[in-house]
Amino acid sequence: MKALVLSGGEGTRLRPFTYSMAKQLVPVANKPVLVHCLENLRDIGVEDVGVIVGGHAAQIEATVGDGSQMGLRLTYIRQEAPLGLAHCVALAADFLGDDDFVMYLGDNILADGITEAAEVFRATRPDAQVLVTKVSDPRQYGVAEVDQDGSVLRLVEKPSTPRSDLAVIGVYFFTSAVHAAARAIRPSARGELEITDAIQYLVDQGRRVTAREYDGYWKDTGKIDDLLECNREILSRIDGRPAQRAGAEIDAESVIVGPVVLGPGARVVRSTLTGPLVIGPGSVLMGSTVGPYTAIGRDCVLEDTGVRDSIILEGAALQNVRDLRGCVIGRWAEVRTPGTPDTGRQLIIGDHTRAEVMA
Ligand code: TTP
Repeated sequence: MKALVLSGGEGTRLRPFTYSMAKQLVPVANKPVLVHCLENLRDIGVEDVGVIVGGHAAQIEATVGDGSQMGLRLTYIRQEAPLGLAHCVALAADFLGDDDFVMYLGDNILADGITEAAEVFRATRPDAQVLVTKVSDPRQYGVAEVDQDGSVLRLVEKPSTPRSDLAVIGVYFFTSAVHAAARAIRPSARGELEITDAIQYLVDQGRRVTAREYDGYWKDTGKIDDLLECNREILSRIDGRPAQRAGAEIDAESVIVGPVVLGPGARVVRSTLTGPLVIGPGSVLMGSTVGPYTAIGRDCVLEDTGVRDSIILEGAALQNVRDLRGCVIGRWAEVRTPGTPDTGRQLIIGDHTRAEVMA
């Protein structure tokens, strides 16, 4: 079985980050979402992975390379414009050939892996197997209507009156029958070749399409709040043994509570760290109170700062700011309180940024 990972798209809902980086490279618990995805693929024994890339192709290649470090062979496939998930299947037709494949949205996290789903697909080989999960508001998702034995009767994209609460999540298994479907469908009202339409085409042609409920933790990280929630969940799974702080320096005045991972060369001075928490290599924390549920990338500097429930990317500097929570701070961003109260507040903030400041 091959895999097709979708790492193009515009990521408008994750602006401003997606102006300068691929959304699949945003870190969750200090690991890019795309790496979480590729590890799940490696764990089901896939070797050949086609990676659809758009405008941020170079960054993605620089991060995961040829995949050999993860035991994978990656083939990059360029998509000039985000014309839909089924468009990605059509673009990858030569790469996929007649093989069965798993299509994985590169911004989705399935924290409990996809081993069981892959086993069931391999054993039963329907022409399409979607994964579904119960959601409270199905109107925002592709929704599957499923009969008692798990066959899909109908798929509807973002229905205004949903007839089921089963949302289709970002991992799909296909035989090569999907290629004819991807060629047959026409763009939707929003101008995209929809994978739901291709799967519905298979259903309409009398092909066997099944749905399997995913009972692990799943999150589409395409929005800030979901990204933060996912970060909390993945962090809640770390054990943070003392060995995971081996190459770091912690002074005698600092206090560490709960699972805390510190990368090599990280320095903690007069600070209180409450896990779950991960701190990247080379980061320096001074006089700060950090955590829980916080991921700090490499080479950050936090001085007299308090932060929890947040994602701080590589190289960011926070100085003398208290009570930060629910933050996502971009690479090499600076946040600080001015030294004297009468200098006013200076904000240099990019497009589509969101900041909350005290009155
Ligand atoms: P989406 O989240 O549906 O689309 P998007 O990335 O354009 O995001 P937004 O709505 O915020 O603008 O895409 C799901 C995944 O599939 C994501 O990893 C991007 C990828 N994708 C492609 O690779 N090509 C495409 O044509 C589309 C639509 C998505």
